Amino acid sequence: MDYSIETAPLEKLECDCIIVGVYQDQQLSPSAASLNASTQGLIHKILGRGDISGKNGETVLLTTIPDSSIERILLVGLGENKPISNKLFIKALAAAINSCKKPPVKSIVCCLAECAVEGGDAAWKTRQIVEVFNDAVYQYTQTKSDKTPESQITGIRISASAETADAAQIGLAQGLAIAEGVSLAKNLADLPGNICTPAYLAGQAIALGEQFTKLSTRILEEADMQALGMGSLLSVSRGSRQPAKLITLDYQGGEKNSKPIVLVGKGLTFDAGGISLKPGLGMDEMKYDMCGGAAVLGTLLFAAKLNLPLNIIGLVPASENLPDGDANKPGDIVTSMSGKTIEILNTDAEGRLILCDTLTYAERFHPDVVIDLATLTGACLVALGRIPSGLLGNDDGLCNDLITASETANDSLWRLPLWEEYQELLKSNFADMANIGGKDAGTITAACFLSRFAESFRWAHLDIAGTAWRTGQTKGATGRPVPLLSQYLLNRASQL
Ligand code: BES
Ligand code: MN
Ligand code: ZN
Repeated sequence: MDYSIETAPLEKLECDCIIVGVYQDQQLSPSAASLNASTQGLIHKILGRGDISGKNGETVLLTTIPDSSIERILLVGLGENKPISNKLFIKALAAAINSCKKPPVKSIVCCLAECAVEGGDAAWKTRQIVEVFNDAVYQYTQTKSDKTPESQITGIRISASAETADAAQIGLAQGLAIAEGVSLAKNLADLPGNICTPAYLAGQAIALGEQFTKLSTRILEEADMQALGMGSLLSVSRGSRQPAKLITLDYQGGEKNSKPIVLVGKGLTFDAGGISLKPGLGMDEMKYDMCGGAAVLGTLLFAAKLNLPLNIIGLVPASENLPDGDANKPGDIVTSMSGKTIEILNTDAEGRLILCDTLTYAERFHPDVVIDLATLTGACLVALGRIPSGLLGNDDGLCNDLITASETANDSLWRLPLWEEYQELLKSNFADMANIGGKDAGTITAACFLSRFAESFRWAHLDIAGTAWRTGQTKGATGRPVPLLSQYLLNRASQL
């Protein structure tokens, strides 16, 4: 898909479809008004007939435009004629692009960046257009024989005025980088577990590192992890024939001595639960248990594309969790890299077991902050559903920065408490801690467990179990939280 900024006036444009906004009460956006004038009142006529009321997300496609080099006009309802919320703006964008997927439309001009959005400047609006459109045309084909694209769209031009063109160019560059990061995360996550193994993820990370001079990749093998004393991580992969990998992506875009932002992503390429085997129904979705790792790769791609002046380390512990004669058993006790011992009361609580050693490993990078992202608990789905990711952490400043970024990125978060009182749920009679805390507060006790390995730095944990993929008819990866992390990095870069 080719995205660009279009500054030519509407009457000079040629395209298969132009997307313009209309408001309730038959009010027109500037572009709609201009097209209305050049088509002898066509748009007013359509609105007058009641074919579209202007409610947010409604669309009407006008397929014959007399005497025009514009083949079609897509009218998109924006709602009330006043600055709209960023959620409504995004809803209208999604409706618009989805209406363009079926018709034989190749070239699109989108005029929606002109409409006023609360707290959304020209760069933000342009970026959202790229993100939302890219999301809508994403199509998984990697393991399908028929790779024909569902839509014929090949080019999208985003209309901007002379005054907004510079900001739009910035938004375009950011949007493209985010879209690429999201697509990488989705493509990796949608792959099945028999293709996307720990070794495959490691290979992808190496390939990513080779694309940019400032980005390098290092893979720790099981023997290396053994030497480091990563007894917890290794215990999870013992039941698998696929060797575990610990991926380090090192992006050096900042000053030599500036402390890195460390991103840790759970890369569990298939989670059967181990000896504490999961029920069969829906188990296929546990191929998505590496979405945290995929999002780390996607975010590093974003940072490298934009050449951000930051130092960023991405860490992805990659493993499978399967039942086997050599797998972890309930009651087994392992020693983590930190020296702390862990009683494994449930082998299905494996994410924290691979993350805890990775958090300890993160210490050697002297991080400014550490953010981990993991499809960690089904309990997060119960608590928050599939709208926000769960957020927990030991630093209010970092948590607030992430919430701020999530609001701009429309990639929402909701913070849960990590109070001391919850820690006692992890008490074990036989080890320093248990790996589960019982029935209550599953997302919080999982974070409590991680917090014990994150005491020496500012740390936040994102539980993305409900947000990293969609279930049901539209099953597929979402690429979240790449937009949120990208925004956080943009904000950090702008504070330098
Ligand atoms: N990967 C799962 C979490 C998960 C489950 C994410 C369902 C999305 C949907 C994780 O490894 C897991 O199995 N967690 C257990 C923890 C429990 C044993 C304390 C869970 O959530 O059931
Ligand atoms: Mn599990
Ligand atoms: Zn898991």
